[in-house]
Amino acid sequence: MNISIATVFKELYAPFLNTSLIKRAQDQGIISVDLLNLFDCVQPKERIDAPTFGHGTGMLIRPQVVECAVDQLEKKHGEAYKIFFSPKGKKLTQPLLQSIAKKAQKKGHLMLLPARYEGMDARVEQAYADEIVSVGDFVLMGGDVPAMMLLEGMLRLIPGVVGKPESVTHDSFMGPFVDYPEYTEPVDWHGMTVPEVIRSGNHQAIKDWRENAAAKDTVLHHFAWLKNHAVTSEQKKRAAQHIPPHYVAVMHSDVLVGPDKLPGTTSVTSIDMHDIARSSCTYGIEQFFIVTPLKDQQEIVKRFLSFWQTSAGAEYNQNRSRAMDLVRLTENLDEVIAAIEKKEGKKPLILATSARPVEGVQLLFYDDQGLVWQQNRPVLILFGTGSGLVPELLERADYLMGPINGFTDYNHLSVRSAAAIIMDRWLGIK
Ligand SMILES: C[S@@+](CC[C@H](N)C(=O)[O-])C[C@H]1O[C@@H](n2cnc3c(N)ncnc32)[C@H](O)[C@@H]1O
Repeated sequence: MNISIATVFKELYAPFLNTSLIKRAQDQGIISVDLLNLFDCVQPKERIDAPTFGHGTGMLIRPQVVECAVDQLEKKHGEAYKIFFSPKGKKLTQPLLQSIAKKAQKKGHLMLLPARYEGMDARVEQAYADEIVSVGDFVLMGGDVPAMMLLEGMLRLIPGVVGKPESVTHDSFMGPFVDYPEYTEPVDWHGMTVPEVIRSGNHQAIKDWRENAAAKDTVLHHFAWLKNHAVTSEQKKRAAQHIPPHYVAVMHSDVLVGPDKLPGTTSVTSIDMHDIARSSCTYGIEQFFIVTPLKDQQEIVKRFLSFWQTSAGAEYNQNRSRAMDLVRLTENLDEVIAAIEKKEGKKPLILATSARPVEGVQLLFYDDQGLVWQQNRPVLILFGTGSGLVPELLERADYLMGPINGFTDYNHLSVRSAAAIIMDRWLGIK
């Protein structure tokens, strides 16, 4: 495969191309590299850039210069798979590298067009780009480092460039899990020892340990990657073992009620009980607590549960009964916390929910799972009813889960809708 690079700073590439595996890939004839200086596309003393139209201070690479580079390089090496670089482009990920490697191999010619200054005239990307790549949500001075990053990542995927193909297929982000931790000599380094199982020679035990360690690391540090990735049921089970136990409580007391939003109580509803129980079952919640101190409301819940948590309910609808098995009736929040502590041996972290921001409680975003889960404590997600939890309860929370909003000013979700959305954002797989 030929790799063409059209750049303003050709000299940046010399040490990069003459080092290690990239040099070896050229020596072995797996790739050849053609570097073109964009200044070769203009007459002496002619500029390659021009000021942008409209207000603004930036200079852009002129479209005729890019056209000349593309024409010259395609004439020499044939039609290319052409990649431009921009912070606005598609985020460079392992799947994108895999896709580029495949398409570049098919064409036999990959062309990289890193920009400088304020970038290139927008029409060249429109005319030529097969892919516009960003290496992250930040702005660099030019596209040469991104071009080198793309080459470092993509070339590892070209057969023959890396010695052992297994070292590539086992890498982080090649599947739903990141790579497992690896160790070398010495066995003891500053009091930290290599796990015994790794030295045991027992292949099955080592494989198990590695898969488990990879799943744990992914859950605690890369949950966003995992939840966006297709997983087998085996991988799902492995990952779930590392998610701390989650509980849900819906408060029908210690909530604000009425037009004046004063502390009070609300009624239980069968539709909320059903729907939140079914969402809880879907997202792996251990128990769903309904909290009401009112005796008549408790009677309603008890009557309801006496059907669903007995054989009559199971016979009527087994799936529904399985979800309803998660429901527990409690008097107040302290009882909920005590029940969780008794079962888990640790007090839960409380993640309160509110339709509005709350001062003084740390706000959680829906990609902050690692921050909470690394504390290795059970988690209680607390929902209010009426006009929301009273300030005294919100202040007891360790975190406030970000209010749910759309691009409108309507802010009146039912508790069962809010619970489903929050459970999905926090624990769901996309
Ligand atoms: C100073 S940047 C221009 C940034 C542009 N004004 C913007 O805000 O999107 C100049 C060039 O550097 C490269 N570049 C900068 N940041 C990048 C990133 N995060 N990913 C890929 N290329 C980048 C691109 O080729 C870009 O055209």
